[in-house]
This record gives sequence, structure tokens and C-alpha cells, in this order.
Amino acid sequence: MEGTEELKRLMEDVKYFISDNKESFTFISAASDVKKEISALKSKNIMKGYIDNEKRSPNPDALKFLKETKVNKCTKCALSKTRKNIVFGEGSPESRLMFIGEAPGAEEDNTGRPFVGRAGQLLTKIIESINLKREDVYIANIIKCRPPENRNPMEDEMVSCAPFLKEQISIIKPEIICTLGKFSTEFIIGKDKGAISSVRGKEFDYEGTTVIPTYHPSYLLRNPSAKKETWEDMKKIRGLYFK
Ligand code: URA
Repeated sequence: MEGTEELKRLMEDVKYFISDNKESFTFISAASDVKKEISALKSKNIMKGYIDNEKRSPNPDALKFLKETKVNKCTKCALSKTRKNIVFGEGSPESRLMFIGEAPGAEEDNTGRPFVGRAGQLLTKIIESINLKREDVYIANIIKCRPPENRNPMEDEMVSCAPFLKEQISIIKPEIICTLGKFSTEFIIGKDKGAISSVRGKEFDYEGTTVIPTYHPSYLLRNPSAKKETWEDMKKIRGLYFK
């Protein structure tokens, strides 16, 4: 057992196991026994939701390098002149699940963190609705700098910024991407697949990663009745994540 992060992850695994296997779960005694217990449960094929990150090899240092050497210095589009902070993305660099939004708003620009305003608070609740925490997933946007007045991102801005997101995806190697709203969905699955209302509820592929599009939290704030469809999408994600 190495370090508290590893222990935290294992305890989370156990928590998922408990919530998914209430009847068969008995007792996992002490932290030092957790890994052993998990291997035993895995081999008996009853450890649903165990995350075998050893099979993946995300590189957290590569994310730091990308942020510090490229994104923080970017002046490729005009948004670099008006931004207060770059909003690179945050969460677990080893996450199997990544959420992709559109662009930072005012609070994100002020803090340098994605999805911290009203829409962000709703996104946090959405993530928690499937027994995950923000720290368990990775959250990023297509655009790293705030468009003035929260206008939609422009094509040239997306083209300039897209390589950063692509690089983030290839470093994190998520198994599931949840695209939030029209812009990130079109960016990931292509513009030819139809409106967000017709693509949500379906699964797509992005270079081997399963893509589940859903509504943007800002849309849900304006149209609360659509939350039930996002809940359906989240249940699908939960099923894939804890399969
Ligand atoms: N909307 C987004 O798409 N991204 C954020 O970070 C905040 C709001």
C-alpha cells in the first residue's frame, strides 16, 4: 500500500463495492488489508466496479507540463487579451471519466477553475448523483479562456484551443467522456450527427473512448424539465463506470 492517495482510491473502490453489493458485502477490516481483500473479491468476480488503473498509464506530469509550458503562455487567439486566468481543467489526471464543457464564464475566469459558477454547482451535483466526487473525475472545456459577455465560442477560437483539449484527452486516456451541450458534443463526435436533443441518449466513439453526450448544466438551469434526460444519461455513465 503506497501513500494516502492510493489508500483513498482503494477505500472509494470499497465504498462502490458496498453500495453495489449490499447483500454480499461482509467486512473489510483494516486499511492495510484492503488491497488483498480487493484482489480476492476480484478473482471471485464479485468485485463490481473495481478500477484497475494499472492497465491504463495516464501521465499526470504530462498534464502539468502542458499547462505550464503551453496553455498558460497561449496567445493564439484574441481571448488571451481579455482573460484574467486560463482555465486549464481540474480533477483526477487518472480519472476514467472526463466531462467536457464549452468555455469558462466569469467565475471560472476569476478563479482559474472550471465549472465553479451556478452551472458548475449543478454539475457537481450531477457528478455526485452517481456516487462520484468532483475529485474523482476530470473536468475541462474546449476553450481555456473566457469569451467576453459569455458569448458562444467562435470557430477560430475553438480551432486554436482544440489541440490543448485533445492533448489532455490523450494524456488522461479516459474510458468515458461526457460531453456537456452542443459545442463540446460537436467537437468530440462531429457536427454531422444532429442536435444535442437527438444525440443525447446515444453512445458514440472518440478514438476508442465511449462518448455520452448530455445537456449542458446551464441549459438545465434554464430548462429544469430536461434534468430527467440528463439523469438517464448519468445512469448510463454509472453503468459503464461501475461495470
Ligand atoms: N460553462 C462551461 O462550459 N464551462 C465552465 O467551466 C463553466 C461554465
